[in-house]
Amino acid sequence: MQERPVALCHSHELVDGGPAVAFDLVYAGQTCRAFAVRFRGGVHAYLNRCTHVGMELDGQPGRFFDDSGRWLLCHAHGAAYHPDSGACAGGPCRKGLVKIQVSEADGVVRWHTAYNLQPLEF
Ligand code: FES
Repeated sequence: MQERPVALCHSHELVDGGPAVAFDLVYAGQTCRAFAVRFRGGVHAYLNRCTHVGMELDGQPGRFFDDSGRWLLCHAHGAAYHPDSGACAGGPCRKGLVKIQVSEADGVVRWHTAYNLQPLEF
């Protein structure tokens, strides 16, 4: 199955260290929440599924960064992830977040499908 880009949001909607933009996709056959953030200029997207016990990370919708803007934090039990790789940085996470490839061009951010990541209408 060929990878293809899917429009996610306008570039200006993602502010460095600021609120995330949420989107839905199908991951391994299940509808899942996902999110995109901007960190140090780059856009990064992940499944919104903590690797501790599978909860969504944001207690308040769209709020994933800690107060320092350095870590993505799970509100449930404090797992911390590196914003640019999704790797576990501390707390009870078991492994890194599931990363979704993104690209940004002409003021538009797009996420990229993969064998296990498909748009809802697919
Ligand atoms: S579910 Fe995220 S830290 Fe427990």
